[in-house]
Amino acid sequence: MSHHLTEARDVRFTYPDGTRALDGVTFRIGHGESVGVIGANGAGKSTLLLLLLGVLFADSGEVRVGDVAVTKRTLPHIREHVGMVFQDPDDQLFMGTVFDDVAFGPRNLGLDEPEVARRVADALDTVGIAHLRDRAPFRLSGGEKRAAGIATVLSMEPDILVLDEPTAGLDPRARRRVIDLLRGFDHTRIVTSHDLDMVLDVCDRVIVLSAGRVAADGPAATILRDEALLAACGLELPLSLQKR
Ligand SMILES: Nc1ncnc2c1ncn2[C@@H]1O[C@H](COP(=O)(O)OP(=O)(O)O)[C@@H](O)[C@H]1O
Ligand SMILES: [Mg+2]
Repeated sequence: MSHHLTEARDVRFTYPDGTRALDGVTFRIGHGESVGVIGANGAGKSTLLLLLLGVLFADSGEVRVGDVAVTKRTLPHIREHVGMVFQDPDDQLFMGTVFDDVAFGPRNLGLDEPEVARRVADALDTVGIAHLRDRAPFRLSGGEKRAAGIATVLSMEPDILVLDEPTAGLDPRARRRVIDLLRGFDHTRIVTSHDLDMVLDVCDRVIVLSAGRVAADGPAATILRDEALLAACGLELPLSLQKR
């Protein structure tokens, strides 16, 4: 398949209680791009990611992954190609051991056990927690849980990696590990974050959401230096670009 594009075309979405979260969002992301989706709390970032994964479906407009529109019918296909790391790792970890959590997706794909074991070992190595494979996920530290959550997605070998606030609550070393991991992943990355220094480090391109619309879309190095634009969208310059 051609998984080279991730597209939103005039996407609108309102929650059942009447809250409009996305109000006509359009973009097109090419294969291998690293895109930061930023915006104030409530701007619609998480909702947008849930629409990319087909957890939610657009009221109007269309989300497409490659040649395929995200609908209930195409979900198995979408889930094979799009891997999402949720904001709260507890949403991703539910088995008795880290190994079984990371093996869950590949086993579901029907892969044989040697292939499953290879994928688990690779994913755990990549996030630096091979030594935790037999531990119970609920006993891990916050940073270890985050790493395990990312490994459950990497073991699916997705073409498109979607992460919601991946550095939130991490200590500096764990944060650096996530940054290095994202820099080393050569397929498409779509990352939401309030950590604009991380976005500056990892992303080539930034989409700014404000009240469910795209307020700006362009090179990270330009947008993240535009103090007036960021302020208008309830954001501040990355710490590394602040004067004092
Ligand atoms: N389950 C929900 N039910 C109703 N409204 C929601 C729900 N989740 C989010 N919202 C609302 O949708 C809007 C966008 O939220 P969200 O996508 O979580 O923003 P962000 O991730 O940018 O903080 C906000 O107004 C938020 O209050
Ligand atoms: Mg959010």
